[in-house]
Amino acid sequence: MKALVFHAPRDVRCETVPDPAPLEAGDVVCEIECTAICGSDLHVWRGNETGLDPGTVLGHEFVGRVVAVGAGVERFAPGDRVVAPFTTSCGVCAPCREGLSSRCERGRLFGWVEGGEGLEGVQAEFARVPLADTTLVAVPDGLSPEEALLAGDVLSTGYFCARSARIEEGAKVCVLGCGPVGLMAIASARELGAEEVLAVDSVPERLELARRFGGRPIPLDRGTGEAVRSHTEGRGANAVLEVVGSPSASRLALEVVRAGGTISAVGVHTEEHFAFSPGDAYDRNLTYVAGRSPARALAPRMLEWLVERRYPFGAVFSHRMDLEDGALAYELFDAKRDGCTKVLFTPSTPPRSPSHRVP
Ligand SMILES: NC(=O)c1ccc[n+]([C@@H]2O[C@H](COP(=O)([O-])OP(=O)(O)OC[C@H]3O[C@@H](n4cnc5c(N)ncnc54)[C@H](O)[C@@H]3O)[C@@H](O)[C@H]2O)c1
Ligand SMILES: [Zn+2]
Ligand SMILES: [Zn+2]
Repeated sequence: MKALVFHAPRDVRCETVPDPAPLEAGDVVCEIECTAICGSDLHVWRGNETGLDPGTVLGHEFVGRVVAVGAGVERFAPGDRVVAPFTTSCGVCAPCREGLSSRCERGRLFGWVEGGEGLEGVQAEFARVPLADTTLVAVPDGLSPEEALLAGDVLSTGYFCARSARIEEGAKVCVLGCGPVGLMAIASARELGAEEVLAVDSVPERLELARRFGGRPIPLDRGTGEAVRSHTEGRGANAVLEVVGSPSASRLALEVVRAGGTISAVGVHTEEHFAFSPGDAYDRNLTYVAGRSPARALAPRMLEWLVERRYPFGAVFSHRMDLEDGALAYELFDAKRDGCTKVLFTPSTPPRSPSHRVP
């Protein structure tokens, strides 16, 4: 099959690799209908996140059809359309039972093989899914594959970020980063009762999308802190949703959160230390929450929400490309070139032109 294979930072190639087959009784193999690039893939692509073995198939977001099932699989059969959260989970360990499927004791992240151990990714024509009964979720009728794909990571993660911030009715919320996850966090903050959602980014088309998702666009520049204060009676936001994953975003979060407020960070951080000190946190009476979204636990609710179509969820996909153009796709998404907000690959129905925008 064709797959996007990691070789080194900024070196991703579309190659032919062996087709996956069920290895354990609980495995299924899916034919990928659509798969996308996540901001998390960029940390690896840029070389900020290290440890991934060269030769690993990248990617952790997909919707597909089940084509083969292991002997122990009970809930899925060939032909079923399913969405995968970005990690596998067993459904029965303590973290799973507590709703923290992302910290399942047996869970693995798609697209992460380190020292020969781990799970191959899904930017490919087929993917193997271990623990399939408790990992996969059936796609409801009436949702397109790409809409359903959002439940497996970016929507669940945006919602998790907002929920972790314990937003109360009437709260003033500031979202840092209007990439796909940030956009979902804006909609989620609105759903949870935020009166005002200030949406910060430097990319004009992302700020425009932020407006469509219910945010008030605030450009990222030297005046950002002042702009946030001017919309929050000079106090800063009750909750800051940090959806970037960089020291400068952490510092900005501290600058724009009010005393007694919360910073909820889903941005993946690869630096060794916090960008602010324990004293800074003390002086702000700060609550800081972070972590990997329990996408499996949240996905059923996210799918119901997607079906309602109250937000322009599908608008996050700017590019639909062939796996063969994967190297270019990573470059476009990283540089935010050509209006790129999110790339979708559709391996089982490849587009004919090398690269084109979604109409
Ligand atoms: N915690 C989880 O479970 C989880 C899941 C998915 C993604 N993520 C992480 O969420 C983050 C966002 O993902 P994405 O797919 O939206 O990525 P993305 O790279 O498309 O979006 C990041 C956005 O932040 C903006 N930005 C950069 N610096 C900024 C700053 N200082 N202030 C405000 N905005 C700034 C960029 O212009 C960009 O639009 C990434 O770090 C990703 O790894 C975490
Ligand atoms: Zn992701
Ligand atoms: Zn578990």
